[in-house]
Formats: sequence, C-alpha cells, structure tokens
Amino acid sequence: MPLMHYKIIEILEKNIDSTTDSHYGNLSILIKNDHIEAEAQVYSELVANKLAILLGIPVAVGVPAKFSKTNNLTNFVSLIAFEEGKEIYDFTKLDHRDLELPQNLREGVIKDMDHLQEILKLIRIYPKEIAYLTVFDYWIGNQDRMLNFKAEINTNERGLIFAIDHGSTLLACSSTINKSLEKLEDSKFPKFHPFQKLLSPFFVEEMIERIKSIPDWSLELATIFDENIGNATIADQYTLFDMLKKRRSFLQDQLSLIL
Ligand SMILES: Nc1ncnc2c1ncn2[C@@H]1O[C@H](COP(=O)(O)OP(=O)(O)OP(=O)(O)O)[C@@H](O)[C@H]1O
Ligand SMILES: [Mg+2]
Repeated sequence: MPLMHYKIIEILEKNIDSTTDSHYGNLSILIKNDHIEAEAQVYSELVANKLAILLGIPVAVGVPAKFSKTNNLTNFVSLIAFEEGKEIYDFTKLDHRDLELPQNLREGVIKDMDHLQEILKLIRIYPKEIAYLTVFDYWIGNQDRMLNFKAEINTNERGLIFAIDHGSTLLACSSTINKSLEKLEDSKFPKFHPFQKLLSPFFVEEMIERIKSIPDWSLELATIFDENIGNATIADQYTLFDMLKKRRSFLQDQLSLIL
C-alpha cells in the first residue's frame, strides 16, 4: 500500500524535553461535527475510519479531537492529505463537462456520473482498491461514494488513491440514528454505487472474506467506546455492532448483483 502523507501547516517551537530534536506543530485538518443532516456524523466517521484501517481500505486517517473553546465537544477531524508534488485528480469536485459517452460501456454502469472517463481509467489502474472500497461501502451503508475520493491517474502505474468522507454512513446514512438503522436493516441499501459493474470479482471476494473474518473482539474495539460519541449513545453503539454482524451476512448477495 503506498504511504499516505498528511499536511503539516507549521512547525513551532522545539520540545524542550526531547532528546531527538522534536518540535511542536500543526497539521492541516478538516473538522466535522454532528449535524441536522447527519445526527451521528462524528461517531460514524470515526467507526468507518477505524474499520477501514483494520481492513486495508485506503482512506485518509481521521481522529477524534476536542477544542476547549467549543465546550470540549467531540469532533471528527480528517487529516488533510499532502498532495504537493503529486498530480492527484480531484474526484470530489463537481464535473460540469458534457462529454460524449464512451463506447462499449457495460450494462449497469452509471452513465451520467461525474468524471466517467476518469473513473474508467481509475478502475484499470486500481482494480484492487476499487473493489475493496466498494465492498466496504456496501457493508457500512455508504451511498455517498460519488465525489468522495481522490487518486493519481496520470500515470499508468499505481500511485496514491484515497477515500474520504464517511459522514453519510453507518448511524449517519440518514439524518437520524433511527432512520439510519432502518436503512441498514435493508439488504438492498445502498441502491447504487459509482463502481457498480466495474469490479474485479477476485478482489471483491477477497474483501468479503476479510470482513467476514473480523473477530468479534476487533469489531467491538472499532465500534464501542466507553462514552457517548456526540449523539451516538453507548446503546446505539452496541446496536451498530450487532447490525454490522448482520450486514456482513448480506454482502455476498449484494455484491453478486453489481459484479
Ligand atoms: N483528508 C482529506 N484530504 C484532502 N482533502 C479532503 C480531506 N477531507 C476532505 N477533503 C476535501 O474537503 C471536501 C469536503 O469534505 P467532506 O466531503 O468530508 O465534507 P462534507 O461536509 O461531508 O461534504 P459533502 O457533504 O459535500 O460531501 C472534500 O470533498 C475534499 O475535497
Ligand atoms: Mg464529501
């Protein structure tokens, strides 16, 4: 897996206790909160991030963070990627081009999606990462992958690809926790995915196996904390833990429909 770097915005004073010349400093971050559109966004981002790292899904790392001036609320902060010196195509921007459709598109590929030409290139360069990410999205109930990833696509060699924004997944796949749980119950959710019908079956199978073989203790470590995380209570966290065990039993059937 390529090493992803994050962006330092300033290096401050030396740590006087350090024997190896370490310094304080600040990273560039995007701070996310619970929101009326995503009542459990902070918890869901955090859990999705922990699970992604456990499974080898390429995501920008994020951490819980607090700021004393905002009442010590728990935020999720996504560490901003260091993109300088790389030509990273920004799939997160809206695509206003009105391009002609490529020939011989497979039935079931979403034809009117943004960046279609670049996505076709992407799946040739990164078949493994794309398959992994798609299986993961089905597991965590992510219907919001469109415009939420970035990748180097200007060489024919594999470089950096990373996913961001899991703020509309898990207990935040709908505006409230209850509505999200209703969606997660449904084996037909998500209803579509930008990479549908563009997947390599071998790698899909590999990720389904990885998800199915996560031991309960590991899933518990990624989903249950000893405190409420924003609006997600400890009881909600246990409910999600059980739901993820249930949803992994759907995965094979869900993916077979979009291979
Ligand atoms: N870790 C990161 N590294 C680089 N860019 C990032 C990172 N996190 C977010 N961004 C950029 O910031 C934008 C907004 O982030 P994000 O998608 O998480 O927010 P959001 O509020 O959920 O937005 P939306 O609902 O529009 O998707 C992204 O589309 C992306 O361009
Ligand atoms: Mg986004």
